Amino acid sequence: MMIQYLESTKQFQLNTQNTTYALAIADDAYLLHIYWGKKLPFTDLTYLLRLKENPFTPTQNERDRACFFDTVPFEYPCGGTGDYREPAFGIEDMGGFRACNLTYLSHRIYCGKPVLQGLPHTFSEIHTPMETLEITMVDKPTGLTVLLSYTVFADSDAIIRSVKVRNDGTESCKLTRVLSCSVDIDNERLDMLTLYGSWARERQVSRVPIGHGKQRIDSLRGESSHQYSPFFALLSPQTTEQQGDAYGFTIIYSGNFFAQAELTQHGTTRAQIGINPDDFVWQLNPTEEFQAPEAVMVYSAEGLGGMSRCYHKLFHRHLIRSQWKDKNRPVLINNWEATYFDFNLEKLQHIAKEAAALGIELFVLDDGWFGHRDSDNCSLGDWKPDERKLPGGLQPLTDTVTELGMRFGLWFEPEMVSPDSDLYRAHPDWAIQIPNRPMTLCRAQYVLDMSREEVRDAIWAQMKQILDNHPISYVKWDMNRQLTELGSAVLPATRQKELWHRYVLGVYDLMERLVTEYPDLLLENCSGGGARFDPGMLYYSPQIWSSDDTDARERLRIQYGASLFMPPSAMGAHVSVCPNHATGRNTPFDTRANVAMNGTFGYELDVTKLSDEDKAAIPEQIHRYHRYSHLVRNGLQYRLGDPFGGSACAAQMHNGWDAWIYVAEDGSEALFTFVQITAEANLRSRKIALAGLQPDAQYQFEWNGQQQTMLGAVLNECGVLIPNLWGDMRSVQIYLQRVNE
Ligand code: GLA
Repeated sequence: MMIQYLESTKQFQLNTQNTTYALAIADDAYLLHIYWGKKLPFTDLTYLLRLKENPFTPTQNERDRACFFDTVPFEYPCGGTGDYREPAFGIEDMGGFRACNLTYLSHRIYCGKPVLQGLPHTFSEIHTPMETLEITMVDKPTGLTVLLSYTVFADSDAIIRSVKVRNDGTESCKLTRVLSCSVDIDNERLDMLTLYGSWARERQVSRVPIGHGKQRIDSLRGESSHQYSPFFALLSPQTTEQQGDAYGFTIIYSGNFFAQAELTQHGTTRAQIGINPDDFVWQLNPTEEFQAPEAVMVYSAEGLGGMSRCYHKLFHRHLIRSQWKDKNRPVLINNWEATYFDFNLEKLQHIAKEAAALGIELFVLDDGWFGHRDSDNCSLGDWKPDERKLPGGLQPLTDTVTELGMRFGLWFEPEMVSPDSDLYRAHPDWAIQIPNRPMTLCRAQYVLDMSREEVRDAIWAQMKQILDNHPISYVKWDMNRQLTELGSAVLPATRQKELWHRYVLGVYDLMERLVTEYPDLLLENCSGGGARFDPGMLYYSPQIWSSDDTDARERLRIQYGASLFMPPSAMGAHVSVCPNHATGRNTPFDTRANVAMNGTFGYELDVTKLSDEDKAAIPEQIHRYHRYSHLVRNGLQYRLGDPFGGSACAAQMHNGWDAWIYVAEDGSEALFTFVQITAEANLRSRKIALAGLQPDAQYQFEWNGQQQTMLGAVLNECGVLIPNLWGDMRSVQIYLQRVNE
């Protein structure tokens, strides 16, 4: 049993493999947080609530009720009745009044977990036991019922939380915020780690001490965004990659989010994540329900690495649905960086032939195949092949590709419309807009109102027409602009603030149709590179394009940041040409491949123009990818370096190199990669300690053309000696195999 309730103290305790999460009902009404940390036996922890100290509980000291509200660690705090810290739940009733007070009504503990209708969510694989604690809270004056769910899986340390609100009252009520989780952590000194960035520079790492007050990241762009990822970690100041407290928070959602840590007057830190309450109001009529997305909280005493590995495993096993998740993905070639919009059938056929000869398995036709799209100025919404570039449509190309023994993949941007398109001319009101207000263009395009079923149906019909009539086994779903002038032609004035969330639900609905109707399809998500690199997308696509920056050096940082909470196999990573189109930098072809193998591997270049030497390297790279990619998918990742030069992880003060290792869960094999970022003259070899290998096992590997055998403990503690390599961005990849004695 993983979840227990102790009636004598009214305490709930959730025990995962290595952690404990505890909460309790105080004063027969209030749900308070007690503890989240290393695993404890089932035991009474309620003394930690300090209810015998000031503040007293309201039944014993009614005159100081407000003091109680402002200091106790509420499990799901609401505003307007005396808790002046950030609320997780907010309402406005028919009278325009905003106070709320959720009190305990009942609870149940059961095997299984809730299915979140219309939202991506975690699920159990067969054979993995899971238990859920569901606590029902009520706001008596309005009749609102709030169901707080906590799920634990037998094979994970994560706590999955979700919140469902039901209007059991007689009047409508507006929900002004429904965060997915809130935790009051009883620890004064914590750092906050967040992922910030920009287009082509996603998921840079920031780590700063939390001071008194509120530190927040968010998105109000309609997508999770390039600028901040829907994830943060709270860390003890001493926490490193390998050890120390790490509390991770993310939500399984792809729209506006809010994530905040607030250090309060008595030294507790209130950590929260959920749908952004800014510009959010949801009208809930009697009997209606509102479901907030799932939050995934992970505590690890094994530092950032322990936290990340927990996320990787949970998402791989319990969030990614695609049948591709456990398979070697076909090595693809994408024509975007090879041709941009400038292609015709012959050019593509030429690339496909050359690629097939080198062993590449999937040809992906990117943007520019439809309408009359010679640039990004037009045609989004008109998903019909451009006969000028592709006479006879897609078929001559798909024929060539399939005859070559390759699969075929295609790019769509289903949520968008160009002003210069037949779709927009026929249905101008389908674009999100505010009447009598100029519409802001971004990349010369508008956003379709995906909350409207007829809009989704129309796009779906066009996509189906293409997918049903061609041998398409891969789709790249792109989304290349943020939302502005939020206005829907069909929602009443009182419901316009629902559009942000309704938009996301509409996108999920369309993706659900796609993966349900074409279960064999390999779907890769993308949003101007990595603006939707979030757990919500993993439910639909096992891989996501991580950035339009394919420079190997920049990718070290982007992929490091992404791996903090997302499985490495989800990171689309391609070998492209040099000088790199984003940075102008030159890096060795081999290193570009080694860095791209720290993700889902592919090529994005014109193979017909490669040097013979680079071409000759491709079959061997593909061979290695297929030989080792199961380790990237299912192995345990240990980040050994820090491409941020120590800012992500205070203990590792260097920026001359990066390294990582994937170790099979049973310790039988491992793949180690080292990248020398900058060369320095006259350096001795570097000693790089590996990690995760079985200490008492012998591992065999090839090094400098010779077979070596070394003890796991020695490799973990002392490591390997990597000579000073000649030149920047040189790399080494070593495969290690346990030797059976
Ligand atoms: C976005 C994607 C790119 C490419 C272009 C096409 O920027 O991230 O990979 O598909 O759109 O317009």
